Amino acid sequence: MRVYLETFGCQMNELDSELVHSQLSSLGYEFVDRPDEAQIVLYNTCSVREQAEQKAYSRIGIVGQRKKAGERLILGVIGCMAERDGLDMMRRHPQVDLLCGPAELDRLPQLIDNARTAMAASTETQAADRAVGLAPRSARVALAGNRTRRTATLAAAEDNLEALDLSRSFRLSGEHARRRSAYVRITRGCNKFCTYCVVPNTRGAEVHRPPDHIVEECRRLADAGALEITLLGQTVNHYRYTHGTAVSVGGSELAQVGPGLSAFRSSAQSAAGPTSGTRVTTFADLLARIHDEIPQLPRLRFVTSYPRDFGTDILTVMRDCPRICRYLHAPAQSGSDRILKLMNRGYSTGEYLEFVAAALEYLPDAGIAGDIIVGFPTETDEDFEATVALVRRVPFKNNFIFKYSPRPGTAAIERFEDDVPDAVKRARNNALLAVQAEVSAAVHATWVDRTVPVLFDDVREIVAPNQATRGSAQPRVELGWERPHQTGPSSSTPSTPVIQAVGRTPQDLIVAVDCGSREDAESVMGSIRAVRIKAAMPLLLRGQFG
Ligand code: 5AD
Ligand code: SF4
Repeated sequence: MRVYLETFGCQMNELDSELVHSQLSSLGYEFVDRPDEAQIVLYNTCSVREQAEQKAYSRIGIVGQRKKAGERLILGVIGCMAERDGLDMMRRHPQVDLLCGPAELDRLPQLIDNARTAMAASTETQAADRAVGLAPRSARVALAGNRTRRTATLAAAEDNLEALDLSRSFRLSGEHARRRSAYVRITRGCNKFCTYCVVPNTRGAEVHRPPDHIVEECRRLADAGALEITLLGQTVNHYRYTHGTAVSVGGSELAQVGPGLSAFRSSAQSAAGPTSGTRVTTFADLLARIHDEIPQLPRLRFVTSYPRDFGTDILTVMRDCPRICRYLHAPAQSGSDRILKLMNRGYSTGEYLEFVAAALEYLPDAGIAGDIIVGFPTETDEDFEATVALVRRVPFKNNFIFKYSPRPGTAAIERFEDDVPDAVKRARNNALLAVQAEVSAAVHATWVDRTVPVLFDDVREIVAPNQATRGSAQPRVELGWERPHQTGPSSSTPSTPVIQAVGRTPQDLIVAVDCGSREDAESVMGSIRAVRIKAAMPLLLRGQFG
């Protein structure tokens, strides 16, 4: 059976898709690059903003038309939309054959099998089901895996998801061969309940993986040729594993519900606090272990940091371990204390600034990135100005800026009216992007005339000023053509196509190097090279091999 798998949303979804790919490949499924070549179409979806959901729904609509035209296809929706919309999605979109939430992915092969069996069943049975208002049999059977929310009854001892993470393929093929970077999950779910965010509902409670499993996975990836590993968690610095509390029959440690769970869900498995004699692996300990036990790994990074729980123990390990990238993605979300309170972020702007000051004291060269939401309910011009002031105060290399999107199931949609008009959200978004471009340009300018190690992963052809770039891989950021703020090395006129090799520094700064030919650019892909920075622009640095 041929499978087409498309991923929407965050890095956590990218990793989930990779695991699904490994899991189904090992069962003999073949993956194809186009939906029209597939017999099974899977969309790994994101619910964080409405826009991402709309995009997925339009894809689901297209598959629906194909099915109406008589094609025998299995359509599966996996990830956060499946979890959030559940049976409702199947009622409204009967072309969807299976749903699988992000906390159920180990059950996907079974769901596909069920959907295949049901598709083979007589069409009369399905018509009869429809007549009594039920979803088609294929849908009902395939949904079984999703119906019990694992997170509601989570027994770490039964956590098959751990097996899914552990069963990943360690061959660097396709995109990996070029990027030589890999994600490793350390924590699933989130316990924070920021009022705007669906993640605690769709991905469930925070669960920490055993440190031995994480270190082993990193080691196998490094041995397979990964040059960069990014540890993933919604609040990655919140990682904490108490040893000796969850052990399997075979003696190996199991995934463990994170601290703080008892605050919002009474459960027999709520986290045991450190009692006398218990040993705890903190996030700082985990970073140090991976760094020290895998010396062949040149780069270790992590996302996403929660600014409140970022202790100096982590900063100390980062300072003392040279192969841990000096990069912090720590979303501020807003610069207004009033809005931060309504968001339930748990820190003030002052505390955020203290975190940044500590980070820069320990790691003066750190690249700091963040996320900001504009137009949160009741946000006034004054609140927005406070956000602008924060962005001007912190040397952010970049910020991902989002317009507030009310999400079903969140506290914010229940409590607050979405009262900031879309035109105002758009204007604030654009204004903040302009401020961020100035801040980014200033941060980038400090790197001119320095030599930095760059891990190259993309080749682009710059066609003309302000026009789209063409790369052989899907661009992770739209670079466009930027005029250097300082005189750059390139003397090419804007209308001459330029081939660039593009990569990233440990600080996650994007660096582009002009190459004589596509072959020259290809020859540095998947390697770390020293680059002398010659020019700085808002989105990237330009340099020469040096
Ligand atoms: N509306 C807009 N942005 C959101 N984010 C999360 N939920 C929403 C929402 N409802 C943003 C936050 C988060 C990032 C992943 O997405 O900034 O850090
Ligand atoms: Fe969502 Fe907040 Fe958890 Fe991040 S920390 S995933 S924004 S609830």
